[in-house]
Amino acid sequence: MRPIFASLFVSGPLVLAACVTPYSSQDLAATQDLAPLYVRHAMQTQVNPAIVAIWDVSNNAVDENGGLDPALMTPASWDALANGAAALAAASDRMAAASDIRAAAVGNLATDEFEITMDQVQTYLDADPQGFRDLSASFATLARTLESAARNRDATNAGELVAQMDAECTVCHARYWYPEAP
Ligand code: HEC
Repeated sequence: MRPIFASLFVSGPLVLAACVTPYSSQDLAATQDLAPLYVRHAMQTQVNPAIVAIWDVSNNAVDENGGLDPALMTPASWDALANGAAALAAASDRMAAASDIRAAAVGNLATDEFEITMDQVQTYLDADPQGFRDLSASFATLARTLESAARNRDATNAGELVAQMDAECTVCHARYWYPEAP
């Protein structure tokens, strides 16, 4: 709920409208899509913590072929895997639904000298915002497939999907973060 209220807070006209007309849940959904999506914030607070939770499970249950060893999985670790994947899917859904895609919020723009600036990332996003939404949507599908595999205790598929995920992060980064890197 937090992002919705935060976005109502910063946009004066919406706050006024909220005082005059009570919002239905449908209006709220529409407002959420119009609110800016800050990619960096999504990466730092949603995507990265979710994948760290997933790796935490997979690194502790790795079999000799790099897959997931079901004998090393517990009910709690299966749940952690499924929940991490669900969080990743939800974050990706929000990225896929965003109409206004921004690299980072004012106050979260600082980068080190050797890093690509957020202004530069913004030019990549502005050049093809639909491509960003499409990649986010396919990432959400991948995350949902992992969630189902984990809920079904399917170690073979879950292991493969976790391995695949890393490559999918890189596909989007190579296009919207470091396109000019070798
Ligand atoms: C649909 C596109 C997309 C996908 C998918 C994606 N990212 Fe990102 N990510 C970006 C963009 C654009 C940036 C550059 C802006 C920024 O620094 O946040 C970024 C930046 C980051 C950063 C740096 C955040 C910072 O402090 O500046 C991390 C960490 C990160 N991504 C992790 C991941 C991981 C892990 C995955 C896969 C689980 C992933 N991302 C998937 C687009 C994506």
